[in-house]
Amino acid sequence: KMGQNQMTKEQRLKNIFDAIKKAHHDKRLVFNDGSPDMSVMIIGEAPGKDEEMQGKPFIGRAGRLFNTTLEKVGLKRSNFYVTNIVKYRPQDGLGKTLTPTPEEIEKFRPMLEKEIDVVSPKLIVVLGRISMMGLGIDGTMASNHGQLINKKIGTIDRKILVVYHPAAILRNINWEPIFREDLGKIIKLI
Ligand code: URA
Repeated sequence: KMGQNQMTKEQRLKNIFDAIKKAHHDKRLVFNDGSPDMSVMIIGEAPGKDEEMQGKPFIGRAGRLFNTTLEKVGLKRSNFYVTNIVKYRPQDGLGKTLTPTPEEIEKFRPMLEKEIDVVSPKLIVVLGRISMMGLGIDGTMASNHGQLINKKIGTIDRKILVVYHPAAILRNINWEPIFREDLGKIIKLI
């Protein structure tokens, strides 16, 4: 059997995702987008309806706002590795999309840590409060957004930039300049 170090990042990710499939065989799962060789890893909360249908993270309205805002600051979505904490769309009995519960986030946390370990990004960008809490970062979005936070994940110190969730910007477009300014900080951090 090959050791972890002889496997490619793709093979190691496949092992992680296979384990998630096994644990959640009753769910429509959404994994990653972009190459694991990218130096920036974007972490959202959970897929929505569009993502669930197309099997890719951040491809609905929030994803499009994310992409266009990145372009405005001279960045390209295709230069990022994009994923979510929770790999399925949390929903109620009627199919309405829900915010992931703390229990769901805790359940996915070990796998997310492994995913971070494989990609080993120079910078992690967390989108929104749920993702921020999912990585164990204390404080509010108001105090943390635009800040670079150092945090040990597993055994390694990671650099994490906290940014508002694009869905929050869609709900209050007055925040778009702040969102843009915060995403613009990525360039100086890589
Ligand atoms: N919101 C998220 O947090 N993730 C997605 O993939 C889409 C919307």
